[in-house]
Amino acid sequence: MALTGLFLVSFLVVHAAINAMIYFNDGGVTFNKWAHFMGSNLIIRTMEIGLFLGLILHVVDGILITRQNRAARPVNYAYAQHGANSKWYSRSMGILGILILLFLIVHLWHFWVPSRHIVGNLEPYGVDAAGQANLYALMLLVFSNPIPVVIYVLGCFALFWHLLHGFRSAFQSLGLNHRQYNGLITLCGEAFSIIVPTLFASMPVAMYLGWVR
Ligand code: HEM
Repeated sequence: MALTGLFLVSFLVVHAAINAMIYFNDGGVTFNKWAHFMGSNLIIRTMEIGLFLGLILHVVDGILITRQNRAARPVNYAYAQHGANSKWYSRSMGILGILILLFLIVHLWHFWVPSRHIVGNLEPYGVDAAGQANLYALMLLVFSNPIPVVIYVLGCFALFWHLLHGFRSAFQSLGLNHRQYNGLITLCGEAFSIIVPTLFASMPVAMYLGWVR
């Protein structure tokens, strides 16, 4: 779980950085250029297979671990004070993971499916000022509707809580924790969990409010 989780974290950094190109506010020219590169470069396309395998492995591992934990304690504690030694989001990683997965299904359907020509393509959205396929125009269209905007913001909330536990926990699982560095790991985990989901959530909001056009 820790290895696939950190691998997915590295994907989030690249994904957020490329998406942040929308803030150049240049009609999507820079964003579309990078999106086209990501969709056409052979090395990146091969890594994309790794990404989906990593995602599936992370989900399957999560299901197996939850089952193992349940089997290890088939009878509930008669008296339990869970809040005393763990946070609610640490005990809710499964449900947060399911929410992120639901968000991902909607999300991939919106952008990845047409951009990879699985169902439909980007032709209906024309080309940008540089004559490139216009994934950006599709984003503007999707985020002109408040329902997807709300779904994306909620998805980012789930991601925030999931990362808040997952980031630090991954280091602990890999034995990379040490009393001397635990404070730093916690700080990095908290910063990452706040910055990346906030950046992601800002994008549908910025498009809906017309901050980027
Ligand atoms: C909330 C703001 C987000 C926006 C506006 C956004 C936008 C996009 C776009 C436009 C694509 C298609 C890229 C392409 O075809 O080249 C894409 C792909 C993808 N996104 Fe997002 N995304 C967001 C958040 C997320 C989050 C939070 C996750 C994960 C938890 C995620 C996971 C993915 C995955 C797995 C793909 C397919 C990967 C690939 O292109 O190979 N996205 N996203």
